[in-house]
Amino acid sequence: MFPFLLFLSIFTLNSSPFAAASDSIYDNFAYCLTTNGIRSDQIAKILYSPTNSSFSRVFEAYVRNRRLNTPTTRKPSIIVTPLEIQQIQATILCTKGSGLQLKIRSGGHDFEGTSYVSSVPFIILDTFNLRTISVDVASETAWVQAGATLGELYYRIWEKSNLHGFPAGLCPTVGIGGHISGGGYGSMLRRFGLTVDNVLDAQIIDFKGRVLDRKAMGEDLFWAIRGGGGASFGVVLSYKITLVRVPEIHTVFRVQKTEEENATDILYKWQNVADKIDNDLFIRVLVQPVTGKVKGQKIIRLTFMASFLGDANRLVSVMNGEFPELGLKKSDCLQMSWIETMLWWYNFKIGTANEALLRRTPDSVIFLKRKSDYVQTPIPKYALESLFKKMVQLGKTGLVFNPYGGRMSEIPESETPFPHRSGIIFKIQYSVNWEDEDPNLITEYVGEARDLYSFMTPFVSKNPRQAFLNYRDLDIGTTDNGKNSYSEGEVYGLKYFKGNFDRLVKVKTMVDPQNFFRNEQSIPTLNLQTSQGSKGRK
Ligand SMILES: Cc1cc2nc3c(=O)[nH]c(=O)nc-3n(C[C@H](O)[C@H](O)[C@H](O)COP(=O)(O)OP(=O)(O)OC[C@H]3O[C@@H](n4cnc5c(N)ncnc54)[C@H](O)[C@@H]3O)c2cc1C
Ligand SMILES: *[C@@H]1O[C@H](CO)[C@@H](O)[C@H](O)[C@H]1NC(C)=O
Ligand SMILES: *[C@@H]1O[C@H](CO)[C@@H](O)[C@H](O)[C@H]1NC(C)=O
Repeated sequence: MFPFLLFLSIFTLNSSPFAAASDSIYDNFAYCLTTNGIRSDQIAKILYSPTNSSFSRVFEAYVRNRRLNTPTTRKPSIIVTPLEIQQIQATILCTKGSGLQLKIRSGGHDFEGTSYVSSVPFIILDTFNLRTISVDVASETAWVQAGATLGELYYRIWEKSNLHGFPAGLCPTVGIGGHISGGGYGSMLRRFGLTVDNVLDAQIIDFKGRVLDRKAMGEDLFWAIRGGGGASFGVVLSYKITLVRVPEIHTVFRVQKTEEENATDILYKWQNVADKIDNDLFIRVLVQPVTGKVKGQKIIRLTFMASFLGDANRLVSVMNGEFPELGLKKSDCLQMSWIETMLWWYNFKIGTANEALLRRTPDSVIFLKRKSDYVQTPIPKYALESLFKKMVQLGKTGLVFNPYGGRMSEIPESETPFPHRSGIIFKIQYSVNWEDEDPNLITEYVGEARDLYSFMTPFVSKNPRQAFLNYRDLDIGTTDNGKNSYSEGEVYGLKYFKGNFDRLVKVKTMVDPQNFFRNEQSIPTLNLQTSQGSKGRK
């Protein structure tokens, strides 16, 4: 009977190896938390094992890209959802001994899921319970915790003052933790710069579990977490931001042009004005292959979406003076308050109550891939024409052109880790979305975005080909399971940070010498370059 028993036990083990392993991971982790002062009744509220009936719901609550949540993607071994700072400190200390990689999640909008996917066993530290926002209009500042969303921040500012705003992103469900630490931007960047140009203080928990504010962390680390990505340095708890003064009346417009309507000429002209026009004006262009009037035939459609810190009369006169080719009429314009522009950018229907900004979950989650580029000289007309042809041929990938200039070019490149400043006319986002679950489509859609990216090579920045950290793209380089050798890190690091990469490496080496805080594209430490960087690889 012995062989039979052996067979049985192997079979039992194999049938649920994951649950068995994860139970012991859970037990060990829970035990470690208790030895770090967390009571078991608290642990019961914040620690989820894969066998917990709420595990999938908690995991999926902040997954914003279905491409990274397929049946074959590795799921976390545990999820911790701290309610208090002490629980984050204990989680950091306990993760060290667990052999798990720590992934930190705020809004979960990372385009490559670096906050909730890994190729090695990992734990998610999810900050959604920590989302207090305190706005102080008298000092024109606010403290906002990492787990808050942009929509919540905008709403809380508006509750206190309709003459203040904050220059951050255009999607209300994006999280503060990733957005600000990654150098987030929004429609007021030409007037006020980026989020990180408007940050006064921060709180972070380091690898020793210490809570540090700006004074305690020092200017180097404070510099690094304003655009260098938080996840390389610690768990960001909160940022203190400066509110910016906004006028009572803002104006927005959306104007579309197809190729028959001189789209090429208009887009060419846009490249020559968008970064130089009045700093109160931000004109984004969506370049999209759409189905035209002739059945089934794809054509290119441009959508000019703009917001302006001023009224419609002034906007029309600015546009007539500098960009008459678009033919903007006053009837194309909608006047509204700043908070309403944030609803408009996210395509909420006009008149939607501001409370919509408090919704933490979008209506649907799709499959997507994003990439980015920077343009320093206008793309010639002939190239725009062949770009349109290429996009029609491919048929699925759209581009978003976001103008820079204004305040963006006044701030020195080394002021924050975000280096894409003076000389940048606009940023391109490559964008492909799909809803069909067929796994074979992933290669096809992602491949299309890569194809278009390669087509654009002659027309975008070179040496390095710059990229925006908050449009995370693992195609531009990764490390081996997040072990981060310097030479691997340098590949994507120079694209995201240019000359600031070296300072980020120095800060990283100083504040996290063991490279505890790491992911697929984190900042490498210097000592790993010699100790294990090239060993046994390539
Ligand atoms: C629909 C959509 C619209 C977007 N619009 C804009 C836009 O208008 N402007 C713009 O600039 N960007 C935009 N983005 C990109 C967005 O800013 C980045 O993806 C940002 O990093 C997301 O932050 P998050 O907290 O939601 O994401 P997460 O996935 O939670 O985090 C992103 C990264 O930051 C790390 N991180 C998160 N929280 C912490 C923390 N507390 N401490 C340390 N590290 C942390 C994560 O580990 C991960 O590496 C958009 C993204 C989406 C999906
Ligand atoms: C799941 O985990 C939560 C949080 O730790 C806990 O409150 C709940 O009781 C658990 N449920 C089950 C079925 O284990
Ligand atoms: C396209 O441009 C030409 C020359 O600038 C102009 O005459 C024509 O009216 C424009 N067409 C449209 C549809 O705007």
